Amino acid sequence: MKKITFAEMWKKLEKYLTVDKALEQGFSNGKYTAVLAKYAKQVVGIDIDENFLKIAEENLKDYNNIELLLMDSKKMTFPDKSFDVILNTSFHEFDLSHGTFSMNLDLKREILEEMTRVSDTIVFVEPTEDAVTNELFKVFDPSEQHGIRIRKSNELIKKVLEEKGYKLVETGLTFNDDGFDSREELEEAMLDWWADIKIPANDEEKKEMISQIDKILEEAGMLQDLHVIEDVRYTIFQRSN
Ligand SMILES: C[S@@+](CC[C@H](N)C(=O)[O-])C[C@H]1O[C@@H](n2cnc3c(N)ncnc32)[C@H](O)[C@@H]1O
Repeated sequence: MKKITFAEMWKKLEKYLTVDKALEQGFSNGKYTAVLAKYAKQVVGIDIDENFLKIAEENLKDYNNIELLLMDSKKMTFPDKSFDVILNTSFHEFDLSHGTFSMNLDLKREILEEMTRVSDTIVFVEPTEDAVTNELFKVFDPSEQHGIRIRKSNELIKKVLEEKGYKLVETGLTFNDDGFDSREELEEAMLDWWADIKIPANDEEKKEMISQIDKILEEAGMLQDLHVIEDVRYTIFQRSN
């Protein structure tokens, strides 16, 4: 399947995201909330992390059509069918474990069922199960099997949504391309990318983590041209009402 650019993906998603009221789940720093706000008249973003709420509030302070709330996707306080669309770019991480790999598929099912309560159109954007970022994640948490998490997560999404009467209406591949001016800049950015998982305790640990990052990116051919490319899949499910 041909990979399209992120800009081309947003163009394809435009017809699903151009609505009166959209919900974004797991906004983190608000990067995708800002994109969603270009299409939807009103955006409500939820996240369970208070720190991310503060960061996103700062990043999105100039938008007047975004409302950010601290809320768990498992127990949303919105009435049924409150939203024309849900954008979720982190569903695979909604049951993330730390230190010991585990998955909570019951929790994921509860969240999916809750999502089907509030919208008939759901857009997922997630790394693919063989994205290089899954290997990089292990530098920060060696127990994490991110590829497996993503595969099982996608299987569950399909199963639950089909049970609930949704159809997969569109899917495709894209890629996130982060370019850097120097190797040092790339290494610092990679360390920062997962700083919520682990921050090196000292210089020695930092050096060791950088050498692991370099090895993974070198094998993927990405260190040489200073571009970290993460393969991403977008999928749209819809239920006729
Ligand atoms: C990997 S980050 C993804 C951030 C962003 N969507 C992106 O792709 O760059 C996952 C986000 O989901 C949030 N999150 C995890 N579980 C959640 C839940 N049950 N309800 C709402 N947000 C949740 C985390 O706090 C975090 O901000």
